[in-house]
Amino acid sequence: MTNTHRHLVTQLYVAVVTLLGFALLLGSLPEVARQPLPLLLFLAGCAGLAQRFPVALFRNSDVSVAFAITFATLLLLGTPAAIWVNLPSALMLWVASTKGVLPAHRGLFNIGSFSLSAATAGLVYSALGGSTPPADFVSALPAMAAAAVTYFAMNSGLTAMAIGLSTHSSVRDVWRVNYAWMVLNYLGLAVNGIALAGAYLAMNIQGMLFFLAPLVIARYSFNLFMAKSREVREQNHRLELAKSQLEESYLNTIAALVAAIDAKDHYTQGHSKVTAHYATLTARAMGLSDREVAGVYLAALFHDIGKIAIPEHILNKPDRLSSEEWETVVQHSSVGSQIIAQITNLRWVAPAIRHHHEHFDGSGYPDHLQGDQIPLTAQILAVADAYQAMRSKRPYRQPRPHQEALAELRLNAGTQFSPQVVEAFVQAISTEVTPLAEKLPLRVAEILHVSQPQF
Ligand SMILES: [Fe+2]
Repeated sequence: MTNTHRHLVTQLYVAVVTLLGFALLLGSLPEVARQPLPLLLFLAGCAGLAQRFPVALFRNSDVSVAFAITFATLLLLGTPAAIWVNLPSALMLWVASTKGVLPAHRGLFNIGSFSLSAATAGLVYSALGGSTPPADFVSALPAMAAAAVTYFAMNSGLTAMAIGLSTHSSVRDVWRVNYAWMVLNYLGLAVNGIALAGAYLAMNIQGMLFFLAPLVIARYSFNLFMAKSREVREQNHRLELAKSQLEESYLNTIAALVAAIDAKDHYTQGHSKVTAHYATLTARAMGLSDREVAGVYLAALFHDIGKIAIPEHILNKPDRLSSEEWETVVQHSSVGSQIIAQITNLRWVAPAIRHHHEHFDGSGYPDHLQGDQIPLTAQILAVADAYQAMRSKRPYRQPRPHQEALAELRLNAGTQFSPQVVEAFVQAISTEVTPLAEKLPLRVAEILHVSQPQF
């Protein structure tokens, strides 16, 4: 269908609905004229007011309770009166809805669609044996329910068709998105309509007023609720924003800390990142959870941050360290864990940093832990750290070849390292063929994202 063709079809459709609606209005006029005028005016006024003050929902939509009045009219006075009571409601929707004044064709279409909906609902009601007014409410219930469903189907279907035609979208999709959720709402309003009709039969207009009061109160409290939930949504949005800003500044802090370690120790520049890479590979190979892998990664990034406390002349000394200097150097793991423990979001990785120089046989530092006493993250970190150290150039030696470094790890498995971790490391590194340089971006954000809810 071409655009012009579609436009013509839309116009034709709108015109037909409008004309049918006006024909129904005119055709039902003689019958309406015979109805009690005060009641008719009262119902029409209520319907207009209900449409004028709809309940605002999220996403710029709103619902009106006018259908309850229309339905009560249908039951009490019959289809012609329901068609006419719908008129002020459609007019209000045209000129005074929350969306402002609608274009003429839409205003006229609404009058048509309201009239058609009332007419078909009335038809179904009487076809199923419903009388006006209902002689027995209980036995008329199936007819009432069918009439309410028909009204909703007609009203929503006619409008969905108009929207679908004018926006080139599937009518079924338009209906599903905009109207499907209203089914229960309409049924609830139908129940209100039935109650209103019953109240009138029992106590005339005073009875209806008595029943309208809860509707007014419901609208008021629902509006209050919507205003409150809008406020809560806005607050949530602001919180989300603040949280992401906080996360960003936290990541910046991490980046600054890593840069600080690198700047301090000339010989181990980039060491932390490479170690973090190996440690992550090993942790994954050992089947650790995402949070644990994140912990290993972060701990590896910061494992030598305690070196900040070591004087540079010791850190960059090309010769053997004196025992005094060595005493200073070994403090870096406990100092590092203390530094990291100051950062709330990183506190949980501090033990891995404290114990990354513990030996499997208990001969390491600072706490001489052994075997399973050493946190697994620290055991992994120790292996990755040692491999990376052997593979890098030092002032006093060349990098050691890959196979030689692995042999060294295996030789010390059971004494310095956990045999299980060494095996996992060897496994992980042998399947890792991608050039290292491409694998080193700081993926903290990604990792934090995975483990964030548990922070
Ligand atoms: Fe270290």
